[in-house]
Amino acid sequence: MPTVDTALSLQLYPLCGQDNAIVVVIDVLRATSAICTAFENGAKEMIPVANVEEALEYQKKGFLVGAERNGEKLEGFDFGNSPYDYMDPKIKDQTLVLTTTNGTQAIEIAKDNYMVVIGAFTNITALSDWLIKQDKNIILLCAGWKGRVNLEDSLFAGAVVERLFQSGKYETFTDASLAAHQLFLSAEGEPGHFLRNSSHRRRLSKLNLKEDIKYCLQLDKSVQIPVLQDGVLVRLQVEEKLGA
Ligand code: MLT
Repeated sequence: MPTVDTALSLQLYPLCGQDNAIVVVIDVLRATSAICTAFENGAKEMIPVANVEEALEYQKKGFLVGAERNGEKLEGFDFGNSPYDYMDPKIKDQTLVLTTTNGTQAIEIAKDNYMVVIGAFTNITALSDWLIKQDKNIILLCAGWKGRVNLEDSLFAGAVVERLFQSGKYETFTDASLAAHQLFLSAEGEPGHFLRNSSHRRRLSKLNLKEDIKYCLQLDKSVQIPVLQDGVLVRLQVEEKLGA
């Protein structure tokens, strides 16, 4: 039976050595929430890039580009990193490009070794149900903030651990997974209250982005599971979702 490991920060990721694992990239405030929202609203593909220079190159080629640093939209780009940016009808059937402070960095470090999927509260049920059907080792990769652990990503990892644990399909949950799970249990179903003092919630609140926080903490606004294929995020096709 497979194992569930958790990297609570990017620095801890290299210690997660699971054979043939699926990596769930987590950045709930807000990159992975924004990505799920984009696919739920008809985006065709999303190209995650780690740096602004690469994003600029794509923009020169005519792509719609989202760019965020330190929680703020970068001037001159089409979108920032708010999920609300990705409800715009102009994204339908488009290939978007995205670079963010942490979320796209997490994708960058995981992309060459494992299958990478995107997780957020907004697609937690679709994601968890699909993971359980895969019968594979899982690495929950928390993007955190600039290399540091953050509460919201760890909380979400714990919420996924709860669902995987309830399935009875996993033999081992590492201590980091158990720690994330304890965070989830102590939140007692009130993530907003639990995160009231978290650093990124405070940062986003100062930027008048409280609506983003509320949206990103809601469950199941999306049934899409974005998966990385050849460096490009696409939506998992239905047959794949069924675990076929
Ligand atoms: C990130 O990707 O670093 C975070 O989502 C930052 C943000 O957009 O608030």
